Amino acid sequence: MKTGITELLGVEYPIVLAAMAWVTNADMVAAVSAAGGLGTLGPNAGSLVVTNDVEETGERLRQQIRDVRKVTDKPFAVNFVVGAGGLDKEFSERCMRVGMEEKIPVAIVSQGSAAVYTRQLQEAGMKVVHACASVAHALSAERAGVDAIVVSGTDGGGHSGFDQNTTFCLVPQVVRAVKIPVIAGGGVAHGSQLAAALALGAEGVYMGTRFIATKECPAHERYKQALLESRDGDTIAIRHGMVSQPGTGQSGFTGERRGSLRMILSDKIREVLIKKEGHIDFNDLMTFQGPIPIEKGGSATAAALIYGDTDLPFWAAGQGVGLIDTVLPCAEVVRRMVAEAEEANRRLAAIF
Ligand SMILES: Cc1cc2nc3c(=O)[nH]c(=O)nc-3n(C[C@H](O)[C@H](O)[C@H](O)COP(=O)(O)O)c2cc1C
Repeated sequence: MKTGITELLGVEYPIVLAAMAWVTNADMVAAVSAAGGLGTLGPNAGSLVVTNDVEETGERLRQQIRDVRKVTDKPFAVNFVVGAGGLDKEFSERCMRVGMEEKIPVAIVSQGSAAVYTRQLQEAGMKVVHACASVAHALSAERAGVDAIVVSGTDGGGHSGFDQNTTFCLVPQVVRAVKIPVIAGGGVAHGSQLAAALALGAEGVYMGTRFIATKECPAHERYKQALLESRDGDTIAIRHGMVSQPGTGQSGFTGERRGSLRMILSDKIREVLIKKEGHIDFNDLMTFQGPIPIEKGGSATAAALIYGDTDLPFWAAGQGVGLIDTVLPCAEVVRRMVAEAEEANRRLAAIF
């Protein structure tokens, strides 16, 4: 296949494994890239426990990058999460430094503003893709000079935009607004959606949840099983932050890609919804988090995703779960996506 994204990133198919923190590792990323897509190492890729050591975080990432290269010489990406301050900023900057030293080909930068790091990453030889969740965010990334944009709707697993626009509505609005290539994400789990994304004017797809239900993904079996069992009504998007007062100049999370978080609707979340008569916000989720022992990764996210702890309601998943019913090798996911997109294209050609 040939699109602006295959040309820009040097891949065979315009299929990008989305950034997914703990539930990515070198095996998974290498498998997607070797199959012709673009694998992405997330923060904490390949790790089983948290570390507060910035230096160690960087060295863990370096090892993962080298492990990908032992398996494939195809392009792959690393996700840098920006926008947070304090120690998180130090972690991000250390990881960027390692990415530059290791000469990785593609950076997927997410959550905050593209203005700060884009030039530096490009000068180090990377193509920079910024993950956005609104037209305004996409326009500001384009002004900052990024090479391409991921735009993901509220259908998607994990973080997406505060406004909760769906992928189907948001993608064509972003495509109309910017001149650079757009990669559509959020709820994509079947090749017909790749064909649909191309029809909407995007030049590729960004897929997280579908790739968790794969043989190579380090997610816990209980989490993978929950994905297979979940249907269309089994996820919920919970908002972060508040709408700010007009005229205050504060945007809260509204200008970023972390305004809401979609995950599997677990029994714990149902309990809150029943107790609070249908209302739930991010602070309710925080109440589930006590201190997490190191045997469970030392972090609520690791405990849920990697250790399969069902008490922690952090099994991020997109609305595409209803389309996922088997655990497959990553290469087979890529192959099926392409075959299903071709089939959709044939159906459309017959209609038109
Ligand atoms: C388990 C999980 C972890 C995620 N972690 C990250 C992350 O570390 N950084 C990031 O930018 N996005 C993260 N996301 C969001 C994805 O990059 C992407 O937007 C989303 O998976 C696309 O929707 P889909 O899951 O329906 O395919 C995560 C999503 C999931 C499901």
